[in-house]
Amino acid sequence: MQPDPAPHAPPADPTARAAGQASFTALVAGRGLLYGGDYNPEQWPAEVWPEDVALMTAAGVNLVTVGVFSWGRLEPQPGALDLAWLDRVLDLLAEAGIAVDLATPSASAPPWLAVDHPETSAVNPDGVRMSHGSRNHFCPTSPVFREHVLRIVRVLAERYADHPALSMWHVGNEFGQVCYCDLCAEAFRGWLRQRYGTLDELNRAWGTAFWSQHHGRWSEVVPPRTAPYLHNPTQELDYRRFASDQLRDLYRVQADLLRELAPGVPVTTNFMGFFPLVDYRSWAGDLDVVADDWYADPADPRSPARAALTHDLMRSLGDGRPWALMEQATSAVNWRPHNLPRSAGTMLVDSLRAVAHGADAICYFQWRASVAGAERFHSAMLPHAGPDTDLHRSVVDQGAVLSRLRRVAGTRVDARAALVFDWQSWWAGRAPGSPSDRMDAVDQLLAAYEPLWREGIAVDVVHPGGELDGYDLVVVPGLYLVSDADAANLARVPERGGVLLVGPFSAVADPDAHVRAGRFPGPWAEVLGVSGEQHRPLPETGAQVRSDRFGDFRAVTWSELLRADGAEVLAWYADAGLAGRPAITRRLHPSGGQAWYLSTVPPSDVLARILRDCADAAGVHGPVACPPDVEAIRRGDVLFLLNHGVETRTVRLPFPATDLIGGTRTPGDLVLPAESAVALIEEDR
Ligand code: GAL
Repeated sequence: MQPDPAPHAPPADPTARAAGQASFTALVAGRGLLYGGDYNPEQWPAEVWPEDVALMTAAGVNLVTVGVFSWGRLEPQPGALDLAWLDRVLDLLAEAGIAVDLATPSASAPPWLAVDHPETSAVNPDGVRMSHGSRNHFCPTSPVFREHVLRIVRVLAERYADHPALSMWHVGNEFGQVCYCDLCAEAFRGWLRQRYGTLDELNRAWGTAFWSQHHGRWSEVVPPRTAPYLHNPTQELDYRRFASDQLRDLYRVQADLLRELAPGVPVTTNFMGFFPLVDYRSWAGDLDVVADDWYADPADPRSPARAALTHDLMRSLGDGRPWALMEQATSAVNWRPHNLPRSAGTMLVDSLRAVAHGADAICYFQWRASVAGAERFHSAMLPHAGPDTDLHRSVVDQGAVLSRLRRVAGTRVDARAALVFDWQSWWAGRAPGSPSDRMDAVDQLLAAYEPLWREGIAVDVVHPGGELDGYDLVVVPGLYLVSDADAANLARVPERGGVLLVGPFSAVADPDAHVRAGRFPGPWAEVLGVSGEQHRPLPETGAQVRSDRFGDFRAVTWSELLRADGAEVLAWYADAGLAGRPAITRRLHPSGGQAWYLSTVPPSDVLARILRDCADAAGVHGPVACPPDVEAIRRGDVLFLLNHGVETRTVRLPFPATDLIGGTRTPGDLVLPAESAVALIEEDR
């Protein structure tokens, strides 16, 4: 028997979090929307800093993140601290009234730590230990790493807790690495013992009768390191759960210390949208302010929808509270193979989209472009060419625009539609050895989101076990894994009069990632009035589907052999071995609610018609009829209209309105030039 694992740090104390949330609210109430970016003064001589601060002030910057990668400058040799430069930087920022989001430098330890303590560096699945020389090379479990992290965190917190510039803590950076070292293996065993109690229960959950994987001793249990063929899917799923929890623990121990030494200062870290290695839902309760990094891809035509969905996820993770867009790029990034620049118009519209979807902070990576290092070709708020540039002028303009939107700061978005998403289901549904690698929950989510977004229907992104009573329309685009309790939670939607739409390959597995035996989707067959017996990925030619309601169409990727058991058949397959079998069904409930099932992937126009029907049935509508490329969303009492396209569009407004950005009053039709946005206060609404 192995010793008991060190207990994980408990979740944040609710009182401490409430204090952090209140300080963030007060910060925004005092300054209006926050605007700024990562500031890395350690890359520059001290003479540059006053110029930076002057230019920040001129650009309306009121928040900067300092110190994310400063550990090597703060502690160039073990225990030899140099903080005078940081004192000076924080003083300069405080004098200018610029708030500081001060980072703990745990994302990148100096080389001495890796050299003196090799076990602080992570090991990949092949057993190769990561070298220093880049960043994020740490092992999240290593006690030595944690000890050094907490030491430097204590130094920073004790020194700056009362500094007038300190407004927020930024713990580490983009937590997202997975380590497979022996320390992590031992911690994994501890995590499994807490989850399962006994080896017998672990063997049951992992289904180890398969391929002779039975574990007779805890010491035989290992992470899913490189192996000859497919891993045990439950082992993989548990390692993902563990790795996410382990990183969260590293966040928590830092956050706890900061909350103890600097009570009331909001604590956050930066998420990365639908990042596959961390279950942000399980982290959100530990952040006082949810913060996200969003790098729009100029080459991706779906980028505006992807951004809006990701922003809605962030707002939803924080239970609707304002969130922070912590990083984005003013123009090109350096890490795609071919880095396209962004236009000034896109940069502004993208920022305003984040505001419209609930962000109270709009920040960039980074303030001044680096001339050395791996990110020397990453755009910044102040480019290599200096302030006399189109790009910097657009940064200044953006500061002015954001300052006019004070009215939305602190307000909420009211959504009556919800999309269901769960990281653990996403992980399990993507495991190798599935019927198809083309059924990705995030793709399904985006496909279902786009039509609602185009209609201006506000959407929250919720957990299957979340509170659903406020939603008239609940869409489950793809939920491979679901617990009985969460399935029952969703089944209540049509039973209480709401509209539920369930997409293909859903409720297939239980939380152990075991396939639920019997006709699928097991826990929903009754509420949907339909059940199936076979998942049938489609050949490239797809399947013909006939429908009087939606028109005939060709479905792609996926089909299912179904039987209606009380549901109406709204569309049926005509070929692909399924002739006459249901493709889309709807069950009307006595409550007036509806339960729809979609067993395939229809073209986007058909999916849009399906979702419009569902939204109509739920009585959920957007604020105005939107022409193509125009997005409408109301936050608080401000109606944002964003034209992300390259053509001028006209929007018919139901009420005369005044634009907070341009200061102009619009009596009726509103002409929205390409790549532009308005923030309207409607009269008589
Ligand atoms: C983020 C990171 C920043 C910077 C940026 C470049 O992922 O947090 O430090 O590297 O990417 O786009």
